[in-house]
Amino acid sequence: MKRDTGPTSRGESGFDQFYESIWTDRWPALRASLIIETEKYKLVNPYARPNDEPTSADLRDSYELDPASVLVARALDVRGEHRVLDMCAAPGGKSLVQIFAHHSSQTPTFILNDMSRDRVFRLRRVLQEHLPTAVFEKIKVTARDASRWGVHEKEAYDRVLLDAPCSGERHVLQDAKALREWAPQRSKGLAQRQYALFCSAELVLKAGGRLVYSTCAISPLENDGVIARYFERKGDKARLRRVNINAESMDETARALIAECKIVLEPTSWGHLILPDRSSGAGPMFLSVFEKF
Ligand SMILES: C[S@@+](CC[C@H](N)C(=O)[O-])C[C@H]1O[C@@H](n2cnc3c(N)ncnc32)[C@H](O)[C@@H]1O
Repeated sequence: MKRDTGPTSRGESGFDQFYESIWTDRWPALRASLIIETEKYKLVNPYARPNDEPTSADLRDSYELDPASVLVARALDVRGEHRVLDMCAAPGGKSLVQIFAHHSSQTPTFILNDMSRDRVFRLRRVLQEHLPTAVFEKIKVTARDASRWGVHEKEAYDRVLLDAPCSGERHVLQDAKALREWAPQRSKGLAQRQYALFCSAELVLKAGGRLVYSTCAISPLENDGVIARYFERKGDKARLRRVNINAESMDETARALIAECKIVLEPTSWGHLILPDRSSGAGPMFLSVFEKF
């Protein structure tokens, strides 16, 4: 993979030129894998199973999502005593992974946020469809601009998930209008927004806490680029240290999923990529894990 993204034109030909300059010989296979609609992973809802609650019969028994999303949520390593902020949570797949994981133990405190009011509405609906009322009511859902969060609240969360808005090339390729309107500036603009969100995430995180940064982009500007910019700009004021995860160091559930879904974690400078041409259709997903000191 090359990081030089040079000048390109707009629309489909510009899109191909842009990504071919990054992915070189791999681009045709990667492009083809992004167009194929692959089977989603069925995340079993533990609250829908034991029929000892009168409401549980009405709950959906599973939630479908990309298996790579499950890995991102598991990489957060949430424990019962934690305060968790999911900065960009809607529609809620990665939040559900974390909530389901604690159904039979102490429940962490979850604050689920998304700036888009429409998507917050969807997030609430997803939570209500999958969680008993008593669990749903303990979760705080907010609709704030997460890039400003660190200005108002500092060192307040043990775990922060920043699943950032991104280029989402899989969606661009599957939407003729989005592909026609694609412009090379798009990824640069998103990288700036992601950087602001990343700095905010660092500020809200407690010392000793963990941050997971993820995107579903294949543009390195939005992945390694955001993190490299953080360390370049902060210099010795940087308060994050990378946690170098790999398939073996993840929890048992994640390891089983990696084996079952034949996922390959491809190392990059600052994290890992999961790409559909080498991970049996899973992804794209970039993830990188940090600890604050
Ligand atoms: C990749 S999606 C999140 C997907 C979600 N984590 C899941 O697993 O279902 C990114 C989300 O970021 C939200 N968003 C964009 N800019 C934001 C901001 N400044 N603050 C908070 N949310 C933002 C978008 O509305 C979008 O829902």
